This record gives sequence, C-alpha cells and structure tokens, in this order.
Amino acid sequence: MPRGSAGRRVAAGRERLVRADVFTLFPQAFEWYLSQVHVRNAVALGHRFCLTNYRDHTPLSHVQVDDAPYGGGAGMVLRIDVVCAALEAVLPGDAARLKDGRRVVELTPKGRQLDDALAAELARQDLVLLCGRYEGIDERVTHLVSDRISIGPYVLSGGEVAAMAVLDAVMRKLPGVISNPDSVVSESHSAVLEGGAEYPHYTRPAEFRGWTVPDVLLSGDHGAVDRWRAAQVRKG
Ligand code: ADE
Repeated sequence: MPRGSAGRRVAAGRERLVRADVFTLFPQAFEWYLSQVHVRNAVALGHRFCLTNYRDHTPLSHVQVDDAPYGGGAGMVLRIDVVCAALEAVLPGDAARLKDGRRVVELTPKGRQLDDALAAELARQDLVLLCGRYEGIDERVTHLVSDRISIGPYVLSGGEVAAMAVLDAVMRKLPGVISNPDSVVSESHSAVLEGGAEYPHYTRPAEFRGWTVPDVLLSGDHGAVDRWRAAQVRKG
C-alpha cells in the first residue's frame, strides 16, 4: 500500500473510522502485512494506515537519526528531535499534544503487555505507533506518548514486529474488517470467553491416520455442540 494512502471509502456505515500512523526506520517491513485481505478490507471501509520513515523528516545532515547514548554504553539511540520532526511533519501541531486526541504508543519491551482488552481500547481512537530500533528511543519520548506497549517479556530487534501485532489485534476489533463478525466476538481471550482460550476447531477428514474428531461435532445436535464447546472453554 502506498505510504500515506487514504484508502477507498466503500461502506463505512456509522462506524468511526480509524487512522493508524506507524513511524519506523523500516517501512518496507510492513509491506506484506498491509497487503493482507483484512487490512485491505479495513482500507476499503475507509480506515487509514500511514507509514512514515523517520529518515524522510530528519532535521540532521546525512539523514542521521540516531546517536551514541549519553554516559556511554553499547548501541545507538533514536534521537528525540528526529522523532518529533517526523511526527510534526505528518501530524501538524506540537508533537507533545498529539496524545490529547489519540493514542500515541511507543513499542518497547518495558511497556504494558498487550492483551485483548488493551486492543479493544486502542481500537476506539486514532493510533500513532512509534517503532524504535537499536537501543530504542531517547527516554524523553515519554513526553510524547500516552502508552508504552510490549508484546511480551522478550526483546525484539525493533518495534516493527510488535507494531504489526498491535495493528492486527486492533484491526480485528474494527466493525466490518473480519467478514464473519462472530469469529471476532468469541475468539480466544475475548471478554465473551472471559479471557480464556477458544474451543478447539476440527474440519474434514473426520478421521486421519486414526486421529478422530469428537463424535458430538458430527452429531448434528447444535445444542450438544454448544454445550461441548462451552465445557472446552471452561476446561481451558
Ligand atoms: N521492541 C523490542 N522488543 C519489544 C517487545 N517485546 N514489545 C514491544 N516492542 C519491542
């Protein structure tokens, strides 16, 4: 999808349209993800996904974006002036005020861990995702963000994979993006399942290498199927 694509508005209904801006040093990392059918559905509905490369807006010479850490130590730190310049080039106004009208998120292993409830919260507003690389973003990014989010207790090479996880979890909450809305309402970790895992799914063949499907699922008795599924969810 082209950078800054506004998308084709097809059938937004009365739903709020979400704009998600991703700031990264590696916009090409998002190409495959943004070509997926549910993302294209979202764009067709009028939601927008805009990618910005910090390098395209750096005020520094030689497209510099990072610097050595004060106090010494390994690695490079993404500069706060570069982050602000990119934000203010794309979303006019004072970068520190952006969080007043939207969620501005730094992806960092030090953040609050992403879960279904947080994804649902994020889906209610426009979103700005700031991806760090190297040693991360200068700590003064805290003046810019409303949230610091981690996708798990491990360190990735950068925020891009985490940003895609956040985008994907959020996008599945937007009405009309997933063609079968029931699959979103009752999927694993959702409120409907009280945060638990979804029941197991099976499909044809009914038997493969002696591995069978529970008889109840082949019975045609929808009440029994519902009771079996509910019991599986309770078992976890
Ligand atoms: N950047 C590096 N590691 C990360 C993680 N676990 N979650 C979010 N952003 C990250």
